[in-house]
Amino acid sequence: MRRNGMDEGAHVTHAIEANGARIPLRGLGTWDLRGRSCARIVEQALRFGYRHIDTAEMYDNEREVGEGLRASGVKRADVFVTTKIWPSHFAPPSLERAAKECLVRLRLSEVDLLLLHWPNPHVPLAETLGALGKVKREGLARHIGISNFTVALVDEAVRLSSEPLVCNQIEAHPFLDQTTVIGACRRHGLAVVAYSPIARGQAVRDPLLTEIGKAHGKSAAQVCLRWLVQQDIGVIPRTAKIERLESNAAIFDFTLSDDEMARIGGLAHPRGRVVNYAYSGAPEWD
Ligand SMILES: NC(=O)c1ccc[n+]([C@@H]2O[C@H](COP(=O)([O-])OP(=O)(O)OC[C@H]3O[C@@H](n4cnc5c(N)ncnc54)[C@H](OP(=O)(O)O)[C@@H]3O)[C@@H](O)[C@H]2O)c1
Repeated sequence: MRRNGMDEGAHVTHAIEANGARIPLRGLGTWDLRGRSCARIVEQALRFGYRHIDTAEMYDNEREVGEGLRASGVKRADVFVTTKIWPSHFAPPSLERAAKECLVRLRLSEVDLLLLHWPNPHVPLAETLGALGKVKREGLARHIGISNFTVALVDEAVRLSSEPLVCNQIEAHPFLDQTTVIGACRRHGLAVVAYSPIARGQAVRDPLLTEIGKAHGKSAAQVCLRWLVQQDIGVIPRTAKIERLESNAAIFDFTLSDDEMARIGGLAHPRGRVVNYAYSGAPEWD
């Protein structure tokens, strides 16, 4: 049976359980989506069966994400909304203020997951995590987590946080070996959510992913996303095209063999990273 043009599994929410959170494995990324088209994509994604939306204060689209959520008619309790605090707001009073402003823009009383967007070496992590924990205890976020944290920083964050951290959102796709940081997350029970999961479109042109896709009647992008979710890694692909929402979601109706998983893992190379930014704390960001 197909509903809303999606495979049967589209309305089944596959999720990762992590330190008390249940994070839908398949989500929608919204970086660079703006205005009316952002609201429309979010609305359509939710209608199609997506139950996890990823935004950030830095994306300048939380208002539109909230509009899309309300327009979809999907119950608030059924959607997992993640937003992120920008590092220039990591000093305690600003973090709390920034979190409240996110909620005002989203027009929500709480988010499901509030992340520290990038590590900020200029603010003591203990202070930032203290503020993040307070925001959680005040009911502004159901769960808290981190993003772009290295192994050493994951260990440190877990040690310093009084509230459980549930997720590290990191760049992950077949062209980048993230085994070590994924191992650190798993040791601490944190979910891994992959950003840029199709390597900003690069996966679509890859010959091996295309070849494996042919054997399953799937596209290279679907194989790439499947490779991640089959390892229990969440995916939040972004698209501005409504017609791609459907195919990016149809990743739960086939299984890659161990051999295919290993061959795809072999695509990693030292220059595989597609997001080469690191927060520097330089004045232009403050
Ligand atoms: N925590 C962080 O620091 C961080 C950093 C980066 C990203 N993120 C999050 O992760 C999300 C996803 O990452 P991303 O936006 O960097 O990259 P991505 O999802 O890997 O790739 C997005 C690009 O792929 C294209 N695309 C999507 N589906 C496709 C398909 N089926 N076939 C062909 N092309 C396709 C899109 O173009 P069209 O729009 O034309 O489809 C877009 O150009 C972001 O939107 C954001 O929410 C977080």
